[in-house]
Parts: sequence; C-alpha cells; structure tokens
Amino acid sequence: MDVAEALAVLMSPQGRVDPYPVYERLRGHGPVVQAGPNMYVVTGYAEADELLRDARVQVLDDHLRDDLLPAWRDSPAVSSIARSMLRTNPPDHSRMRRLAAGAFTPRRIAAMRDVVTAQADELVDMMAAAGRDGTPVDFMAEFAYPLPVGVICALLGVPTADRPLFRRWAADLTGILEPEITPAELAVADAGATELRGYFTELVAARRRRPADDLTTALVQAHDAGDRLSGEELLANLVILLVAGFETTTNLLGNGLAVLLAHPGAADVLRRHPEHAPAYVDELLRFDSPVQLTTRTSSETVRVGGAELVAGSWILLLLGAANRDPRRYPTPERFDPWRAQLAPLSFGAGPHYCLGAGLARLEAQVAVPLLLRRLPGLAPAGTPRRRSRLTLRGYDSLPVTVGEPA
Ligand code: HEM
Repeated sequence: MDVAEALAVLMSPQGRVDPYPVYERLRGHGPVVQAGPNMYVVTGYAEADELLRDARVQVLDDHLRDDLLPAWRDSPAVSSIARSMLRTNPPDHSRMRRLAAGAFTPRRIAAMRDVVTAQADELVDMMAAAGRDGTPVDFMAEFAYPLPVGVICALLGVPTADRPLFRRWAADLTGILEPEITPAELAVADAGATELRGYFTELVAARRRRPADDLTTALVQAHDAGDRLSGEELLANLVILLVAGFETTTNLLGNGLAVLLAHPGAADVLRRHPEHAPAYVDELLRFDSPVQLTTRTSSETVRVGGAELVAGSWILLLLGAANRDPRRYPTPERFDPWRAQLAPLSFGAGPHYCLGAGLARLEAQVAVPLLLRRLPGLAPAGTPRRRSRLTLRGYDSLPVTVGEPA
C-alpha cells in the first residue's frame, strides 16, 4: 500500500474506526513521509515531538487557510477556532494563553480534586440506580460525558442547568478538526459554533452585569480592561475552553474504560492499588489517544527524520501513531502501565501543549479507580459504537452492566 492509498484508508470509515493498522502501513515508509507536493505525514515519536517544539513550525495561519478554504471567514466554526489560542501563533497566542493560564496552575487544579470526586461519586450513584437489576446503561451518556462537562462548567462558571445543551453543539463543532470535511459536515459544524457563540454572548453579558469568581469573569475583565483580548478572541477562547475541556476528556474516560474492561487483570490491580492511577492514565492516553492528530505548517524548510519539509507545506502529525512508535515504546500494541518513561504525545508538545492536561489527568486519575472500586462488577454489555471521527477518537455509546455496587 503506498502512502496515498494508506491516507485514503485512514480517512475512510474503516480507518476512522481503527486507524492503528493504517499507521503501521505509513510507518513502513519512514517516520516522516511525503504524501503530496506540499504535504507530509509524521508517524515517528521523536520526529513529531521535535516538530511540535520547533519555533519555525506553526499552526496554520490565515494565509494558508485562504489557500485551503477561501471562504473560511464566512464559516462561524472555522473563524471561531482560528481566533482561539489553539490556532493562533505568537505573539497573539502567548498573550491569549497567559490570560487563561491562571486558572490551570497546579495549585488550582489540585484544589479541584474534591469537586471532581464529589461529581464522580454522584454519577456512580446515578449509574448504579439506572443499572439496577442488570439493565444495561450507556457509560458515555451516564458518566464519561457528564463528569468532564460538569468540571469545566464549574471552572467557567456555566450554570448547572445548562450542561445538557453542550453535548450536541460541541460534537457538531468539532467536526471542523477533522483533516477532511464535506460541505454538509461544515454546515453542521457552523450550526454548532453559532449556538455556542450565542450561548457565550449571553453569559458574557451576564458576567459583565454581575461578576463572579470564575474563568468567564476573569476573561471578560481582561477584555474590558483594554487591549488584552478582543471581543472576537473572548468568545473564541470561551468556546474552545468549554469544548476542549470535555470532548477530549470524555473520550479518555470512554476509551480508557473500554481498555480496562478488556484487561480485567490490570483493572483488578488498579482497583486494589489506586496509587498507580497516574501511570495507568498515562498508558491509557498512549494506548488509545483521545486526540489522534494535529496539523502544522513551516515558515522555513525544515529537515527532520531524513525528510526535507519544504516551507509552506502542510504537516499532518499523527499523535496516535507516534504513541505507538516501536522505537519509543517496545511492543506498543500491548497495554502496559509499567512502562518506563511514558510521556505520551496525547496532549501535544511545545507552545500549544494542552492547557488542560493537569485537569484531564486529575479527572481520569480520580474517576477510573473510583469506578472500579465502587462498581467491581462493571462489565461490557453489547457492542460499543465508535464515533466516525479520526481526530477526536472516542465512542458514541459504550453499553455496560454495573453489577452489585460495593
Ligand atoms: C490543546 C489534547 C483536555 C484545553 C490541546 C492539544 C492537544 C490536547 C493534543 C494541542 C493541540 C495542538 O497542538 O494543535 C487534550 C486531551 C485531553 C485534553 C487528550 C483530555 C484527555 C483538555 C482540558 C482542557 C483543555 C480538560 C480544559 C480547558 C486545551 C486548550 C488547548 C489545548 C485551551 C489549546 C492550548 C494552546 O493552543 O496553547 N489539548 N486535551 N484540554 N487543550 Fe487539551
């Protein structure tokens, strides 16, 4: 299979459901391969890490966006993501990231542990009640979605009652992160973006009238204080914080539980030794990464992994493949929480390294052992359904039976 064929399979429904065999095909051509006149694909761990940290390698700028999708300014989804820190280069990127970073310091995150534990306990109670008498429950709907959305909403100061609104809107918007998108998918993403932006426009007005001790108020005040955050950037970053704050963590919880249900021996060790949760969570992140890829471009010609990336090219960094690079992780297809030097690339690297990595790790490190301890009979029930997405890898539904609560 040549590189072009492998990429076509990767983007197909089959590749979206199981990209790992395709990554191995691509890896057979080298850690960095040319996939077109101006396109490169990276599957190597060291090479992806190096490129993400290289100052000449940046997120797509407006200029390249104009080439790829000339009408992008008319799309609420593309223009909103483009104005957020996720898709902005320095100096705008550093300015925006600094404004939000105060909410994600290790001290602030550690202080969230009790909130996360209380929410996880409450969701387990609800799951146990719904699954009484062996009735299957959907782990995604009952736990993997509401926990991260509850936590990020608490941080942003989004009212509890509004939480159910976001699942559909965010799922629609994140279609925009796929490497290929049809006009129909773009229309769906635009509708999601419009809803989310409308929601935050109202929340911003409410916080301006009555400030609160939350991240939304902090960003509104940064905007109102002068030239530190434009109105467009304020909305774009609130949307990205909400969406990045739960879409990915939901998938970490879903992918992670599926792996542990398939490895009952390893799950049992964690049940008895919750102190191993940090290593388990990092291995779950590596083994089935909730974010499988990101993209970059280079301002100059860059040499890496034996390839020469011409200036202005489009670079597809396959994080999920890098995490299974056998040069970095021996027998990468094995789930093994006892690996030395885990450091998966699931949160990226360099200037755009995930702002919420500490929060996501905390949520999973609390939730996974808690689930195993309180619901020791948790078992698969029926066939899980994968989302047809390559970038944000997760399940639409993951049916389980809860067994007898401990
Ligand atoms: C950026 C993954 C959870 C907020 C990123 C990036 C990755 C990532 C790969 C870098 C994208 C790139 O370089 O193009 C994940 C995963 C998560 C997770 C796998 C969960 C398991 C969270 C949470 C938040 C968050 C809980 C909380 C708000 C962000 C933000 C950025 C980001 C704001 C942009 C940072 C920047 O551009 O400087 N995330 N994330 N993420 N993530 Fe996360």
